[in-house]
Amino acid sequence: MSKVSRRDFLKLSGTGAATAGATLAGGGLLAPATADAASKEQVARATLPYPERRVANARKLRVNEPVTFTYPDKTSPCMLVRMGHPVPGGVGPDGDIVAYSTLCTHMGCPVSYDRKSRDFKCPCHFSVFDGEKAGQMVTGQATENLPRIILSYDERSGDIRAVGVDGLIYGRQANIL
Ligand code: FES
Repeated sequence: MSKVSRRDFLKLSGTGAATAGATLAGGGLLAPATADAASKEQVARATLPYPERRVANARKLRVNEPVTFTYPDKTSPCMLVRMGHPVPGGVGPDGDIVAYSTLCTHMGCPVSYDRKSRDFKCPCHFSVFDGEKAGQMVTGQATENLPRIILSYDERSGDIRAVGVDGLIYGRQANIL
């Protein structure tokens, strides 16, 4: 039996991981930079069996008018907003549609959307999350960002679908129960 040194093992493992990443991202051999850019959508689908659910149609959405839905199941309230300008994680023709879980990451109170500031605000202990910056925690008792619902956009129909969650929904050990 041939022995593999620790050094050789690490070298081999590194090569394997790089190749796997490149194949995952595009189905062919890609440059490392392209492989690193594998979207959150692909990662979410690969890690948990998230359902794919139509939650809105981009052609019918009005700027700054929130739409509520539940995802990944009926006990998890979420909100979708078309911001009117490109934002991090935004989808749709203008890259401006985002969605979040509306359970505060501090103790699970329902947050509300403030159209003026475009923040999500928690009435319980006043945490504030930035809707234009991927749900980033701005102030308050919470220490985690608002979980972002990962969306996909179908150019032909205009449909927006929820396909995953980036962040842990409050009160859960895993987003899929
Ligand atoms: S539950 Fe939202 S800040 Fe405490």
